[in-house]
Amino acid sequence: MSDNILEIKDLSVGFNIEINNIEKFFYALNSINLSFERNKIHALAGESGCGKSVLINTVLKLLPKNSQIKSGKIFFNNQNILELKDREFRKIRGNKISLIPQDPFMSLNPLYTIENQMAEVFLDNSKDNIEKIKWALNEVRIKNIDNVLKSYPHELSGGMKQRVIIAMSLVQNSELILADEPTTALDVSVSNSILDLLLDLKNKGKTIILITHDLSIVSNYCDTVSIMYMGDIVENANTRVLFKNPMHPYTKALLNALPTKRGKRLENIKGQISPITDVIAGCKFHPRCNYVKDICKIKKPSLCCYNENNVSCWLYQNISL
Ligand SMILES: Nc1ncnc2c1ncn2[C@@H]1O[C@H](COP(=O)(O)OP(=O)(O)O)[C@@H](O)[C@H]1O
Ligand code: SF4
Ligand SMILES: [Mg+2]
Repeated sequence: MSDNILEIKDLSVGFNIEINNIEKFFYALNSINLSFERNKIHALAGESGCGKSVLINTVLKLLPKNSQIKSGKIFFNNQNILELKDREFRKIRGNKISLIPQDPFMSLNPLYTIENQMAEVFLDNSKDNIEKIKWALNEVRIKNIDNVLKSYPHELSGGMKQRVIIAMSLVQNSELILADEPTTALDVSVSNSILDLLLDLKNKGKTIILITHDLSIVSNYCDTVSIMYMGDIVENANTRVLFKNPMHPYTKALLNALPTKRGKRLENIKGQISPITDVIAGCKFHPRCNYVKDICKIKKPSLCCYNENNVSCWLYQNISL
């Protein structure tokens, strides 16, 4: 029996955008179906602007005012969280589900010391709380704990702030951690130590969805990977399978664009991802695809299972117009 902590079914989300004084609706996510097995690190990958943050902000119910959820269900531990009232969902967000943002400064209050903001998690003022906070800071390998507790966020480095945020998710005992490009703002050695901490969290039984545009991170840290392109899941598979046998032309292009061991990229992906206001018929990748066929420009392929990959591409499907 599968043990999915999170299941996304037929999720479509978009934004009302004003163009020439006329407000129109544009999709940012198109009928997304994804399952996330418990106690794994799952990657959500793709170029900037493909809908990764919109997807996790929908799970966190943190979408901006001009957004609309057009369809779908999101089951967290078998409960459809989209049906929950905001008051009920607040018991889940920040407790059972937590976020590690790209910019840790955004989720730390600049006016509170680290100790005060970590203590906010608790409803009571028990003496055990500070012990739990110190335990969590120790778990994320912070050495000078007493100094850090007295510090304000601006006094800490970016890597240290990310450690504090990860420690907060430990204090909260979150089951699911959504990490939105958590290392993009950090240099390589700090970035690796934060990613190692995510592996530690997995070993403690947590489930992590790691958003990244960097496939080299995926190969080193993630169990599964879903590749997104303009609001669609175009391929997903076990990480080992995807790296050994990438099937979608976009996945292949992303892998070809990775720097080699000598630091050289094999090939850049031609063209650019379009804004959501460019409505592209058929397969959204077709303007950039080297294998494009006539059908690709008019009919969208569905996500189908081939061998061990799920792929959405006409190269692998019987054409029926
Ligand atoms: N509030 C918004 N209003 C209009 N468009 C938005 C809004 N937020 C995001 N988008 C658009 O949705 C698309 C997906 O964005 P996002 O999920 O942030 O991409 P990324 O994969 O880089 O995280 C982009 O084209 C972005 O411009
Ligand atoms: S469906 Fe066609 S355009 Fe899209 S990725 Fe496959 S071959 Fe390329
Ligand atoms: Mg993003």
